Amino acid sequence: MAIQRVGVIGCGLMGSGIAQVSAQAGFPTLVREVSPNALEKGLGSIYKFLQAGVDKGKVPPYELDKVKKNLTGTVKLEDLTDCDLIVEAAPENLPLKKELFGALEAIVKPGAIFASNTSSLSITEMSNFCKRPERFLGLHFFNPVPLMKLVEVVKTVRSDAAAVADANAWCMAIGKTVVNCGDSTGFVVNRLLVPYMLDAVRVYEQGLASRDDIDNAMKLGCGYPMGPLFLTDYVGLDTTYYISEIMFDEFKEPRFAAPPLLKRMVLAGQHGRKTGRGFYDWSANPPK
Ligand code: 3HC
Repeated sequence: MAIQRVGVIGCGLMGSGIAQVSAQAGFPTLVREVSPNALEKGLGSIYKFLQAGVDKGKVPPYELDKVKKNLTGTVKLEDLTDCDLIVEAAPENLPLKKELFGALEAIVKPGAIFASNTSSLSITEMSNFCKRPERFLGLHFFNPVPLMKLVEVVKTVRSDAAAVADANAWCMAIGKTVVNCGDSTGFVVNRLLVPYMLDAVRVYEQGLASRDDIDNAMKLGCGYPMGPLFLTDYVGLDTTYYISEIMFDEFKEPRFAAPPLLKRMVLAGQHGRKTGRGFYDWSANPPK
């Protein structure tokens, strides 16, 4: 296994999940956050999730100790010097990612693989931030990372086949199934999922059916684990809106255009689960 030591940039929703599954699979993993507070919050969410798994009898208690042993948090980028793979899960902000990869490149070994967990930004554009763009890939995980089995491994026209093979091998070693795809906005999953979620908002906006009927239709009619409006709340209305804007900009197709209701809810701060209010009221458990 070419990848031994793993670095994760960002310990938010996605970064914490990626760091967890990497450490849980036995890889020494460093996760870097910008401040001690953010780091403490991210690491806390990992241990809370694992403890919930132990309580449910889904995670053997020794796995918790394994993660404690393999996972290290840091606020210093230079601590990632020895990593063979660095997965970036920082906010979706290109100038920020440019600064991060520029700083990392100056300190990591030449053979290290850089990967971004971006859901919608161009992997090719990001690879331009590095002197070795052939070692740059997309590794797109799904929320909640520890439970969702898929990783999209995204290669660019310049990607080195050995780096792609190493990334595939690591994803499999952490228990994920890999889908390989080219660098096109949304990759495979969001290319199909985002228009579906936007259409559900349009159906609701046009008054064709109630929120619960739309969600039940897709849960019970198609066997999906969550209805599309619940899923939009779960992913975040702001995130869905942001991705749709990038996809519309790329493809210029109406199916990627955000419905006015989605935009208004985002403007009103109703971002779904993360703000407590979206199509559902998340202050209740389960959401109402
Ligand atoms: N540790 C270990 N296992 C756990 C756990 C924990 N802390 N919490 C739950 N589990 C296990 C459960 O025991 C259960 O296992 P079982 O199937 O063997 O019984 C399984 O995980 C499911 O958990 P729950 O029963 O508690 O919850 P649900 O059945 O409601 O499933 C879900 C939760 C997995 C989130 C499911 O609702 C689902 O798959 N939803 C769809 C999520 C989705 O589509 N995500 C992708 C979003 S798009 C994205 O991320 C891309 C981005 O770019 C936008």
